[in-house]
Amino acid sequence: MRIGVVGLGAMGAGIAQLSIEAGFETVGHEVDAVRGEAARSRIEHFLTRKVEKGTLQQEARDTAVARLALTNALADLADCDVVIEAVFEDLGVKHELFRALEAVVKPATILATNTSAISVTEIAAVLDRPERAVGMHFFNPAPLMPLVEIVRAERTADDVFETAFELGAQLGKTPIRCSDTPGFVVNRVLIPLLNDCVRVLDETGVTPADLDAGMKYGAGWPMGPCELLDLVGADVHVHASEALYEKLREPRMAPPPRLVRMLEAGKLGRKSGEGFYTYG
Ligand code: 3HC
Repeated sequence: MRIGVVGLGAMGAGIAQLSIEAGFETVGHEVDAVRGEAARSRIEHFLTRKVEKGTLQQEARDTAVARLALTNALADLADCDVVIEAVFEDLGVKHELFRALEAVVKPATILATNTSAISVTEIAAVLDRPERAVGMHFFNPAPLMPLVEIVRAERTADDVFETAFELGAQLGKTPIRCSDTPGFVVNRVLIPLLNDCVRVLDETGVTPADLDAGMKYGAGWPMGPCELLDLVGADVHVHASEALYEKLREPRMAPPPRLVRMLEAGKLGRKSGEGFYTYG
């Protein structure tokens, strides 16, 4: 199977890394060579760390790296059996991309979206073959988080859904079967929960470090809510939160004003160097 990944930001690069590690020839698409090479360096760095830590053989690392081809032409995805998009979370952007992809890929190619908060059915609505579309929602950081949500859109064909499910497992993940409901499963729970955590900061006056310690050591979270929001990014979280609020109209889904202010100030978290914490 040949895999295409469109958009090599944090999520796309992580998915491409999983794909080459799983033994698939992989074509990674970015808008320009600089961004493509940045993703390649990032992937190479993480695979080198695995070699240094003794969890990957040098030869296996080199073979995996050689499986990644980079391009900035969608036509180079023509031979892919599955294309996973991880571009900007905007319905218009995804529509344009899916239409352009459908024009170059084989009729049987599966078009998967890594969207976290947009309806897969709506994304697929512009396709001539909407039955070939499915959601494959990975979690940040994709190479480390074991889950992938496989999302059945209104018109997803059974064979497409099952192939995506199987691919999730081949990529080393635990796939779960989801419906195309707002936030699917995990974000439906996690987004209001993280919003609550931010509101608790304001209500109680505790510091982010104390709240994080509280949830890590009192509730067994692997990282605190503020650390997690800094990892996900205020931009990604606020967008997903707004999308859920728009669909569900529950006050807890709406992004807390403190996070919106952080977004407006460019305090996005790790990616901008400052969020709840500062990063060197
Ligand atoms: N890609 C590949 N490898 C990576 C990586 C990445 N993006 N980031 C880190 N690594 C590697 C590094 O090599 C690092 O090792 P190094 O420091 O020696 O170089 C190693 O992974 C990290 O290993 P650790 O043993 O330090 O990992 P931890 O035990 O600290 O676990 C964690 C890290 C898995 C991120 C854990 O803290 C965790 O589970 N956090 C919760 C994350 C979470 O909830 N994510 C979901 C966010 S919500 C989401 O994504 C939905 C979306 O729609 C918004």
